[in-house]
Amino acid sequence: MASEFQQRLFNEQEQELLFEIIKSRRDVRGNRFLEKEIEETIIHKIIEAGLHGPSVGFSQPWEFVIIKDQKTKAAIKASFNTENTKGANQFKEDKQEKYTNLKLEGIEETPLNIAVFYTPKDTPVLGQTSMPNMGRYSVVCAIQNMWLMARSLNIGMGWVSILDPEKVKTILNAPKENELIGYLCFGYTDMFYNKPELELKKWDKRKPLSEVIFEEKY
Ligand SMILES: Cc1cc2nc3c(=O)[nH]c(=O)nc-3n(C[C@H](O)[C@H](O)[C@H](O)COP(=O)(O)O)c2cc1C
Repeated sequence: MASEFQQRLFNEQEQELLFEIIKSRRDVRGNRFLEKEIEETIIHKIIEAGLHGPSVGFSQPWEFVIIKDQKTKAAIKASFNTENTKGANQFKEDKQEKYTNLKLEGIEETPLNIAVFYTPKDTPVLGQTSMPNMGRYSVVCAIQNMWLMARSLNIGMGWVSILDPEKVKTILNAPKENELIGYLCFGYTDMFYNKPELELKKWDKRKPLSEVIFEEKY
């Protein structure tokens, strides 16, 4: 008998599939995107995956701005260019040279950008009374769901954080109290690399379990 308490259990094949999607998710950048549009039902499916993310006190402190207009994207890209120059200057010598050779966004190359905002509440939020960042982390959980959903739909996503959040807010006419958490670029792609691009380009490598697990105490 169906009830709200009925549980869905997953079999081994499904568990493996989830792990495969997790491992196949990539940050996709502008040089890999195709021009093909993303249908509205698909866009909504990706955002709905976000809405199924966990949130502190079930506060669901998120709002999504869907951006398709090339003029808006160009304005955001201008902020990226300014911030990226500042970013590059923070690295020294060969790291700086490596940095400047990296493609770190796909704002104008993707048909769809989504800006994800944190919407703070002016009343106490269950679970957020001691650690005020929990609402922001909840928005990040939504973004991760979107990233995985997009990957399962064979759509690439790139997260662009080299931006001035206040400039982005102004461009998007965002309410004063909202905070930009993620600026995301979505599009079909000609290639999902099997490893992070930053690993393939020898910027860094994945940490093994043994490096990050501590038993009982540090
Ligand atoms: C919070 C966050 C911000 C990021 N910002 C950028 C960014 O501004 N530009 C970029 O090229 N990649 C960005 N990335 C993608 C990371 O570089 C990428 O996740 C990492 O290199 C691992 O690669 P993978 O996502 O393909 O596994 C960001 C990722 C996260 C989680």
